[in-house]
Amino acid sequence: MEHSSPLIDGVGLADRTRKSRWPARLDLTQSATGLVLVLFMWGHMFFVSSILVSKDAMWTITKLFEGYFFFGASYTWIVSMVVALVIALIVTHALLAVRKFPINYYQFKTFRGHMRMIDHEDTTLWFWQVFTGFALFFLASVHLYIMLTRSDRIGPFESADRVWSEHLWPLYILLLLAVELHGGIGLYRLAVKWGWFTGNDANATRHRLKMLKWAITVFFLVLGFATLAAYIKIGIEHQGHYGERYVPSRLQALPQAVAPTDGIDTRKSV
Ligand code: HEM
Repeated sequence: MEHSSPLIDGVGLADRTRKSRWPARLDLTQSATGLVLVLFMWGHMFFVSSILVSKDAMWTITKLFEGYFFFGASYTWIVSMVVALVIALIVTHALLAVRKFPINYYQFKTFRGHMRMIDHEDTTLWFWQVFTGFALFFLASVHLYIMLTRSDRIGPFESADRVWSEHLWPLYILLLLAVELHGGIGLYRLAVKWGWFTGNDANATRHRLKMLKWAITVFFLVLGFATLAAYIKIGIEHQGHYGERYVPSRLQALPQAVAPTDGIDTRKSV
């Protein structure tokens, strides 16, 4: 009900009683950044899992992002720029998300009690959303800082050495579980919240969305763990040559096989 009285209008109190649009705007921004991050992660997982096709395939994808096939040389700062953009997206999303976190022990206990009492799957999913989001604060920042500062060390051998010889595999196991569960639940909640794919029967729609959510999550977890296993296998085989850069088979045939690095156009050196 709109309050309108001369007293209120007279001293400019009207604005405060009118419903602020900011919460809705912040919710929309949180949803939008969440959706963009989910789509980014789908792309990221396909690029990183190119190692399952072959080492040369992963090398080619890496060089593509470094501009090698456009500029004739690799510029790894391009990847660092993309990482910086992803970090900005994650920080915005996380800042907006903490508005919804239980902010004290009483709120947390009430929520947990409520969750157990009603035993409602969507409420439980929301708990796991908060839990995995909290975990990502810590897990993703380690990975992102390494990618931001060492984008020159991405490749079949370079990544495998990091995963195995630099002991990143335990972090990747936890990060993979957290990001795939968080992304899957997030997408499901976006679809429910914004009414995507709604059919005539709301319950049937919700059930279908939940099935789709679990199918996507399981697909990316299987792909992710197969990919991680591949990097671990290469890392174990390569530990004796730790730090050696990967040179694709077609360049290995050249007399002085050299790996393309920042600003050096190896094609011309033939
Ligand atoms: C532009 C930003 C990013 C870049 C350039 C990037 C790059 C990479 C690369 C090259 C790998 C292979 C392993 C390695 O070299 O250490 C990897 C693995 C991984 N990344 Fe990222 N990453 C980015 C952002 C993220 C984000 C935001 C997340 C999650 C919040 C994430 C989660 C993972 C996971 C879970 C793995 C292990 C994949 C597996 O083997 O299953 N990454 N990433």
